[in-house]
This record gives sequence, structure tokens and C-alpha cells, in this order.
Amino acid sequence: MHEPAMESQETAVPESRALLGWSLPESREDIPSLQWLVTRLRDSRIDWRLLESLVRFEPAHYARRVLVRTDACELLLACWLPGQASLVHDHGGSHGAALLVRGELKETRFAWGGDRLLPALACRAGEGDVMLERPDTIHRVVNPSRHGAVSLHLYAPPMQGMTPYDGQTVPGRTRRLRPPRPPGGGGAGRRRRPRAG
Ligand SMILES: [Fe+2]
Repeated sequence: MHEPAMESQETAVPESRALLGWSLPESREDIPSLQWLVTRLRDSRIDWRLLESLVRFEPAHYARRVLVRTDACELLLACWLPGQASLVHDHGGSHGAALLVRGELKETRFAWGGDRLLPALACRAGEGDVMLERPDTIHRVVNPSRHGAVSLHLYAPPMQGMTPYDGQTVPGRTRRLRPPRPPGGGGAGRRRRPRAG
């Protein structure tokens, strides 16, 4: 599966103030930390009807759409049908916070074990949970449920492209990524992610 291309702006997108109750900063100096992003996103006063009008599911892959972008950050909407998943990926050096507004997602984080990426942590997020995507986060996200899921992602600075790792030559390394090994007994386990902040 490939990472989906950004969907074209086929419908008018509202200002972030209309959607979230606050305007995205225009300057990078206005975003002091990742925690600031988390707090602003978590405390948003979302216009649920407006958000619902923006939800688009794609049968072939999960759908991503940039809603608002400034010099400082961007707001992205992701829609996941049951079973749809991202590739293993990073975030191009950006900090990110993802608010799950509908449904359920499972995140698997990877860590380097020698020259291989191995699953290090798996957790589930439910409605209202915030997932953190740090510059060094490498993860895969899947909708494990039988229902659609929708997540709002804030990235600062705007993502300059994410690196997919599945079946690709790992940048700066000469060997290819091998299939991750399943976690052994007593290894990485599933746990409930505490609410960020
Ligand atoms: Fe991600």
C-alpha cells in the first residue's frame, strides 16, 4: 500500500477559527512546544457539524487532507475505514499532535534494533485521546475496528514530507528494512495510552 496523496481541495475549507474555535499561528515563534500544540488541539471547541461535512473516506486507502496551512503549522484531517492503515513512517522532522475525534486507532511505534526497525510499543487510542508524533517518532497507525475513524492532526512546522519505511531502503543506511518480528512473550505489549497533557 502507498501513502495516499493529499486530496485536492474539492470543497471549501473553513478557517481554523470556525472549525476549532482558534486560529492557527502564523509565526513559528508562536508555537513554543509540542505540549502547546497538544493543549490547543485538545481544548479546541470543534464545530462538529462543520467537521462532519469535511469527512471523506476512500475505499482504496485511508484519506488525508490538509485543511489549513500557515508558515508555522498545518491542520490535517485523516479518515480511516476499518482495516485501513498507514505505512511505517516518520514525519519529516515536524512535531505533531493527533486528536482522535471519531472511532478507534491502534498505533505501533518502532525503534531501531541494529539495522532493523522493530515494533517497540503498541497502544490504542479512543475518542478524545491525543497521539504524539515527535520528530523521531516512527510508527504505523491502523483502524482495528469495524467502524470508521477520523483524526485531526496538527504539525509544526508544516510537514515537508514523511519517509515511508515499508519495503524501502532506509535513508542513510545501506540495508533494506526487514519485516518486523512479532513481539515475543513479555515484550512489547498493548496498553492503553494515557491522555496526553
Ligand atoms: Fe504519523
